[in-house]
Parts: sequence; C-alpha cells; structure tokens
Amino acid sequence: MLDLWYKNAVIYCVDVETYMDGNGDGVGDFLGLNQRLDYLSGLGITCIWLMPFYPSPNKDNGYDVMDYYSVDPRLGSLGDFVEFARQAAEHGIRILVDLVVNHTSDQHPWFQTALKDPESKYWNYYLWSKQEPEDVEEGIIFPGRQDSTWTYQPEVDAYYAHRFYDHQADLNITNPQVREEIQKIMGFWLELGVSGFRIDAAPHLIELRQADNLFEPADDPFLYIDELRDFLSWRRGDAILLAEVNETPEELPQYFDDGDRMQMLFNFWGNQHLLLALAREDATPLKQAFDELPPVSTIGQWANFVRNHDELTLDKLSDDQQNEIAAAFAPDRETMWIFDRGIRRRFAPMLDGDLQRLKLTYSLLLTLPGTPVINYGEELGMGDDLTLDERQPARTPMQWSAAPNGGFSTAPADQLVLPVISEGDYSYKQVNVTAQQCDPHSLLNWMERAVRLRKEYPAFGWGQWQTLQTDHPSVFAHRCEWQGRVVIAVHNLSRADCKATLVLAEDAGRCLVDLFTGKRVEAIEQPSHPMHLAGYDYRWLQVSQGAG
Ligand code: NOJ
Repeated sequence: MLDLWYKNAVIYCVDVETYMDGNGDGVGDFLGLNQRLDYLSGLGITCIWLMPFYPSPNKDNGYDVMDYYSVDPRLGSLGDFVEFARQAAEHGIRILVDLVVNHTSDQHPWFQTALKDPESKYWNYYLWSKQEPEDVEEGIIFPGRQDSTWTYQPEVDAYYAHRFYDHQADLNITNPQVREEIQKIMGFWLELGVSGFRIDAAPHLIELRQADNLFEPADDPFLYIDELRDFLSWRRGDAILLAEVNETPEELPQYFDDGDRMQMLFNFWGNQHLLLALAREDATPLKQAFDELPPVSTIGQWANFVRNHDELTLDKLSDDQQNEIAAAFAPDRETMWIFDRGIRRRFAPMLDGDLQRLKLTYSLLLTLPGTPVINYGEELGMGDDLTLDERQPARTPMQWSAAPNGGFSTAPADQLVLPVISEGDYSYKQVNVTAQQCDPHSLLNWMERAVRLRKEYPAFGWGQWQTLQTDHPSVFAHRCEWQGRVVIAVHNLSRADCKATLVLAEDAGRCLVDLFTGKRVEAIEQPSHPMHLAGYDYRWLQVSQGAG
C-alpha cells in the first residue's frame, strides 16, 4: 500500500525567527527550535512546515530569498539545520520547507549580476521590458502597499516584472537554466532530509511569461507542475508538494491532476467559507463550500487551516459577505483590515477568546476532510498586536511562559525581532505554554487530546467523505469511511442549544460511540437520528461495527 503519510499528518507551521531564541540575541533560531521538539512531539504534531529561513534582506518575512542553499545567519547555520533535521526525525516529525521560486530578492546575486552585466546568463533569469508595459497596475497583490508590477531600473534602462513587492523580482520560469536551478534547490533540501515543499505563490509561478513575449504563456503552464513533481518523486518517493493556490473550485483540479501533480493544496475555499459560516453561526456556507470542492484522487489531499501567517484573505467572497465577517470579527477596518480583502488579527481575539467557540473551530479543523495545518501559537489562542505594520500583528513571538519576553528570549525586550504581547488579555503573562500545561481546562490541553484522537481515527484524513443532511441550519455534520470504519463529526456553529436530526441512512442498525468520552451514545434511529447539541458543541462519533 502507498505510504500516504500526509493524509494522517498534523502539520504545524513555524517561523524560526519568532519561535524560540536559543542564543539570547533576540531572534529565534534553530538552536531554540531544537529545544522545543519535545513540546511539539507532546502536542502530537507530525510534520513541521518551516517558513523561509534562508538568507534574506527580510523585507517580506523571508519570502525575499537571496541564497537558496543556506540558512540566514541570524537563525543559525546549515549545520544547525542538519542537527534540527536529525532531531526532528528522532521525534518522528517530518519537515516541509518553503520553496519560494516565483521570485528572488532584488539582492540575490543572480539579479545583481543581471543588473551589472545584461550580457550575462542571469539577464534571462528575470523578465524584462525595454518599454513600460501597459498593464503595470494590473495584478497587484498588495494593494495600498505596492504601486505596480513592473519597476524601472535606470542602470539597465529597462523594467523588470514583479507580481509582489518591487524588491521581489519574478524569475523567468520559461528559461531552462532557471528550471535547472530550481531542481538543484529541491535536490539540495531533499538530500538534507526534508519531506517536501510548500510551493509559494503556485499560480504565479506557473504563469510562464517569456522575456520576449511577456503576455502570452509560453506553454501549457501545468506541464511545469508535472516537471516539478516528476523531479521530486524520482529523488524521493514519499516527498510531497503542498501548494499555495487560492483559486475557485473550477480551477483547482488542474493543480491535482488525478494525483500526478501537487499532492496537497491549501483549502482557501473551505477557509473563507468557514469564516463566513462562523460569522453567521450558520453551517450552510461551510456545507456548500465543501460540497463544491472538486473530488480528489487517492493521492490528493486538502490542507485545511483556520488562520495562516498572512492576512486572513476573504477575496473569494462577495463584498456583502466580507462585511458580515467584518461586523462579527474585525469591526475596526482602520486597524484590522489590510489589502482591501483580509483581516490582520489572530483568530482567538476575533472570537473574543471564547474558549468553547475556539474548541468548536479547532474541532472542525481537525475533522474536516483533509489534513489540518496549525499555525504556531494557535494551540494557545495567542493574540495579536495591531500596532505592528502590515501582516506583522499575527506574527509576534511564541509565548512560552510568564518569564520576561514570554520565555521566548533572554535578550533585552527592545532587542527582540518583534515585540512579545505583554499587555491585555493576550499578554504572555496570561497566555503561555507553561500556564496552559498546568491547567487541565486549557485550550492547549484540549488540543493535545484532540490531535491524539484525530490521529487515532485515520478515517478523518484518509476516508471517503460526504456532508450529511441535517434539519438544522447551524449544524454541520459529515461522515468519513475508510477500510470499513466510519466516523461522523457533528458541529453546532451557533451559540444557541439546538435539537437537530441527522440522516444516517447508510448506518442504520448500528450505534454511535463518542470518541471524546468513549461512551456508547445511542443506537442510530431511522429515518433520521435526533441529537441534542449545546451552543458551540461538537461531537466526534464512531459508528460501531456491531448493532446497538
Ligand atoms: C505568499 C506568502 O505566504 C506571503 O507571506 C508572501 O508575502 C508572498 N507569497 C510572496 O512570497
């Protein structure tokens, strides 16, 4: 049988820079991360996705790479990375790294050489235009922060393309030499033991614009994903590509291509509709969104998330829907919104720290069809610092204890890479790992338990799934079946108690066992099974093999 390890994985996203400072200089590092591997294995996560840790001018949180083969000296050395990789493996934890090759930093030697010597081979590593292109404002990714997608370079009297910030020059993926470089980068990190890559900005990566024909794609862009996947699988059979693709359900199947391309895609569609459903306390948008997702092959898998390191983008929703979410979770547009489409807050403050509602949401994350991805600090319900710029409010250092700087670093507070949250309800003095480990009712303890259960019931990650009909709009219910074993999860998105009935026709004659309590709940009634749910309640149920 294929070892599709990612189907029952629990992925945890770490920014090394803000996770744990091991050498006391105010910046998180691999030394510190290594010290926290026991914590992570205690939490039960099985795979760490490392955000970019490569040398970088750091103008976009490391997504502006200037050397693909090394570690930013602020975070450690390549030796420290290898030590981390070895220890992670000892803990049974796999590693995914970010592959940021849609663009490089303008400080990358390739770009710098192109500027100094347009005759060099590096000129064609990028996309140039002698005239100012007509569409310079089209396709801007960071509205309000970015003015154009082309910038003039007087040194060479030409414009270069950049989908993102002007310091992130787009690579010319149609150039075979660039493709070779990308393979070399992948090969390098695979040799160092990583289990795959998060593909940054995948739809842009495959735009395949040619330097001399900027507006027409050179080829079928998806063939490039085939190439990436072939290379990956030849080098390491169990390695995966997890792509950032925020597209509509119609666009998504080409990225999977029945399992021959990306193994995993982030489920932006599910995420945005989850937020809408939570805001409305009505499960309908969530059910509809999951029903709209295209079917995926045995190999393919959704990567579900609640909140990632960027803005919580709502770009696939209508203005009215965005307004509903804003009213519920981010009422102050001035400080809480960014790029006209998303929220800068962390998730816990969006819910006013309501523990039961947080559990409800993370219960959904852990059971929704696909693999859960947890952003560091979510397991504690960490807060945000809205005084910080751009997307930084949700990127403050991990809160380990009530010690100074939240135990993140022993450096003076003014030397920290980003300030820790030290005031208010989300201050490290209240919200931290140590405190929550000692509190049996904490979100952290609940999360450990829920993660363990999720892994014990692989039907959630592997199974054939379907959403279930209920007669109550606030109830989301779905059923997963794998190798004859069936689990059902039921969630009440409303604060109000409810009585709902579920249609469980396929499971007639069986009974339900509650996974959190181990108790046999009830025999399944036909034609519809009644269930009482408290406000924001959730149930994970196994359909027992025998009759009730
Ligand atoms: C997506 C990343 O998640 C984001 O943080 C970054 O700014 C852009 N890609 C550009 O690399």
